[in-house]
Amino acid sequence: MPQTPQPLPPFPAKPQPLPDFPGYTTLDKEVRIDRLPVEGTLPEWLSGTLIRNGPAKFEVGDYRLTHWFNGIGMLHAYSFGEGQVSYANKYPRTTAYDLAVNKGQLYGKQFGIDPCEELFGRHFAAYSPNISDNTNVNLTRLANRFFAFNEQPLNMEFDPRTLDTVGELTFEDQIVGELSTPHPHFDFERRAMLNYTTAMRDKTVYHVHYTPEDTLRQTRLATIETGEDPRYMHSFAVTENYVVLVEIPVVIDRERFLEPGNPFVECFSWQPERGTRFLVVDKREGRVVRTFEGPAFFAFHHINAAEVGSDLLIDIAVTETPYESVLGLAPSEDQFDLQAYGYAARRFALSLSGASNTARTVDLADAGVEMPRINYRAHNGKPYRYAYGLGHSLRSLRAMNRLLKLDVVAGTHKAWHEKGSFPSEAVFVARPGATEEDDGVVLSGVLDAKSGTSFLLVLDAASFEELGRARVPHHIPNDFHGVFFNDLPRLGG
Ligand SMILES: [Fe+2]
Repeated sequence: MPQTPQPLPPFPAKPQPLPDFPGYTTLDKEVRIDRLPVEGTLPEWLSGTLIRNGPAKFEVGDYRLTHWFNGIGMLHAYSFGEGQVSYANKYPRTTAYDLAVNKGQLYGKQFGIDPCEELFGRHFAAYSPNISDNTNVNLTRLANRFFAFNEQPLNMEFDPRTLDTVGELTFEDQIVGELSTPHPHFDFERRAMLNYTTAMRDKTVYHVHYTPEDTLRQTRLATIETGEDPRYMHSFAVTENYVVLVEIPVVIDRERFLEPGNPFVECFSWQPERGTRFLVVDKREGRVVRTFEGPAFFAFHHINAAEVGSDLLIDIAVTETPYESVLGLAPSEDQFDLQAYGYAARRFALSLSGASNTARTVDLADAGVEMPRINYRAHNGKPYRYAYGLGHSLRSLRAMNRLLKLDVVAGTHKAWHEKGSFPSEAVFVARPGATEEDDGVVLSGVLDAKSGTSFLLVLDAASFEELGRARVPHHIPNDFHGVFFNDLPRLGG
C-alpha cells in the first residue's frame, strides 16, 4: 500500500553540545599496557581478549558534537591470561578520523545532528558521501578477519593484536544497500553470519543474507519488499528456523535519507499509529511466512528469541518514551535522564499455529535493561533464563549507572552498583566446560566519574558479585559494544 507522507515531528530547539561529563569527554591517549593493576582475583581460566568499540572523540576542530553517536570511534582491547589483564586502545585511521583531527571536519552521513547546520546554516561535513567510515558501533570476525562497523554497510578491518587499521573490507557479492544493522547474528547450524541490508533506492527492500564463516561472500537468503518506506531497525531476531525483522514505527523518509548530508535522525519520523510489524522469515524457504502486528514501541536491541511449542517468542529491550528523546533529536539535559526512558524487557509471543496475527505481550522481569547480552553460544535463538544489561537508579540523571542480571523465568533481577560509577555493556563469558547457563563471568568497562578513570570489572555471573577489577589509567568514554574472543591471547603476554 503506498504510504501517505507524514510530517516529521516538530524540529527541536537548537541542538546543545554534549554535556560536560567524563563519558562524553574526548580520550586522546593511545596506549598499550602489559599489566593493569588488578584488585581482587580473576579466574585462572579467564583467557582471551575483549575488544570494544565506541565513540571517544567529541570535538572536530573547535566544535563540540551534539550527539553521542557522532563521536569518532575508538577500539579498546582488554586481554586476559594467568589472572592478569593487558590493555590497548587506538583510533582506527579512517577518513572520518583524519578529517576530524587534521581539518576539523565531519565526514559522511551522521547519525545525529551536527552543530554547524545551526551555526552556519550548512552541514559541517566537508565531503558528503552518503556513508561514513566512522565505524564506531560494533565489530566481529569472519574468515579470521576482524572488522568494525556502524549501521551502514561498510566494514573497517583492523589487526586484533595491534588494533592497527588495515583498511576498508568489501565482501564478495556484497549486497548493495543504504542501511544495515551493527548486530549481525551467528547461525551455529549454518556456520554463517546472518544479517540484513536495507536497500531504498527505487523501493524498500530488506535483503536478509548470510556469510559462511570461512568466507567473505554474502549470499542472499530472502528479499522482502514491503511496499512502504523502510523502518529503523537496529537489530533483529533469529531462531533455529526463522529470522524475524521487527518494524517499529520509526519510519525513514527515503528521499531525505538518500540525499547526502541529512543525518539519520532528520530522516526519521515517529508514527505510533502504525504500530509494530513482525516479519517472520522462514530460513529454509527464504520468504516471509507470517506477519504479526503489535503495539508501538521504540527499541534498539533484541535480547533473545526462541521457538517454544508453536510460539515464536521475541524478547526486546523496549521503551515507550517518544523516540525523539531516545535518539537525541532534542539533545538536552533530559536526553541523559534515562529514568525517563522507562526501559522494559518485553516478550512478544507470536502464535505460528493460531489464526491471530496479534502479538501477545508480557514483561519478563521487574526491571528493564539496555545493551542486553546473554550466554549467546549456548542460548541464542533458544529458551534461556538470564540476560545481562544496563539499568539505572532513580537518582541517576546522566547515564545508566548499574549492571543488571535479569532472571526471565522468575521475573526478578540482581544488580551491581557503585556510587558515581557508570558501567558499559555487560559481556558474558562462559567458563570452559560449563553446563549451567550462568557459569562464567560478566565483563564491563566501568567509568569512575569521581576519579575520572575507568576500570574493567569482572563479576561472577551466577552470584553477580565482584571477583576483581583492573584499573585503566585514563577514562574510557561511553562506548557501545564489544566481543570476547577466547582464542586471542593476552596482548603483550
Ligand atoms: Fe547496538
